[in-house]
Amino acid sequence: MRDVVVIGTGQTPVGELWEKSLRHLAHDAIIPAMSDAGLERADALYVGNMLSGELAGQEHLGALIADFIGLRGIEAMKVEAACASGAAALRVGLMAVASGLHDVVLVCGVEKMTDTVGGVTTSALATAADQEYEVSQGVSFVGLNALLMRRYMYQYGVTHEAFAGFTVNAHRNGVNNPNAMFRSAISVGSYMKAGMIADPINLMDSSPVCDGAACVVLAAADRFKSKAKASILASSVATDSLAIHDRRDPLVLDAVALSSQKAYVAARVRPADIHVFELHDAFSIMAALSLEAAGFAPQGKGVQLALNGDIAIGGKLPISTMGGLKSRGHPVGATGVYQVVELVSQLTGQAGANQVRGATVGMAQNIGGSGATVITHILGAV
Ligand code: COA
Repeated sequence: MRDVVVIGTGQTPVGELWEKSLRHLAHDAIIPAMSDAGLERADALYVGNMLSGELAGQEHLGALIADFIGLRGIEAMKVEAACASGAAALRVGLMAVASGLHDVVLVCGVEKMTDTVGGVTTSALATAADQEYEVSQGVSFVGLNALLMRRYMYQYGVTHEAFAGFTVNAHRNGVNNPNAMFRSAISVGSYMKAGMIADPINLMDSSPVCDGAACVVLAAADRFKSKAKASILASSVATDSLAIHDRRDPLVLDAVALSSQKAYVAARVRPADIHVFELHDAFSIMAALSLEAAGFAPQGKGVQLALNGDIAIGGKLPISTMGGLKSRGHPVGATGVYQVVELVSQLTGQAGANQVRGATVGMAQNIGGSGATVITHILGAV
């Protein structure tokens, strides 16, 4: 296998982008990434997307977007793994370059969630859960996460307020990210006062419905050494049951543990070597469970890292450094690519006010469903 490097990145702001269609959003991320890489062509395009069929009635995004960006004729396809679609597309692009099949590929995550009314989008998101055994009971995605959060609070004797640190940290970091959807800091008081969505998940525990696109250009290290911005040290995928009730323990994300361990081994690092962690904080409970299963905190103690400030920039393990899914936003199939774009900005010292000093190793983890597909990438500075 060949070593693979990132040679260009691009992203659109995240928000309610009603004036742009899927293809325009993808274009607005891909063209800047290609220009960043100093390229006019690529061998292939892999598109991470979850909901285009459900919400826009549009599938076949590979050919659609390749044509729209002026690359008609190249290999192009969509890759889907629910909310982990962005990282799944990255994984496919990485395999194509590492295997020697292609020298340079484009990976674009793109999602449009705000052109439909709330109930339609909520039903589409629920396709990531087990339709026969979970969704048929009337539970939404937020509802499933609320059950997990309630169970966590009961089992470990944790209050709702103990989760506030995740949201406060994400919003504080989002302030300095021009591409973040929410750019206002919040206090623990306003977190506690936010409207309830699915008890105990309130508005400030949840990532928003939003639109956005991000792109990375991957290339063979031996051919594009001079353009390298960061190298991909590890890529791993692990799976679990879709339905939470089928798991060994609902509060242990086994696929996070497996995916993280595989990545640590491949990158030859330990959790303590990770300088920045872009985790999948779609809900504050997911941040706590991810930190535990990835080996950063014992079971039931993930919230402690938020309470004692370890997750802040300047802390022991900065997370969500550009706002995370909560504040930058979670355009589902695009998120995994945004995370890697943000890691590259950290590893190249381009993260501005949110720069993690001396960051040379970063990890991005993208979760599909409530922990059923977990894709981890570890990147290193060059
Ligand atoms: N955090 C902070 N503010 C939010 C927000 C969030 N997550 N979501 C919406 N808002 C704000 C909006 O900006 C808006 O503010 P304004 O009145 O000042 O303009 C206000 O709340 C109402 O926005 P609206 O879009 O009408 O919210 P909603 O009630 O329709 O939806 C949620 C809110 C949380 C229910 C919706 O965003 C949601 O379903 N999120 C979860 C998405 C999900 O499951 N993703 C997959 C996870 S893996």
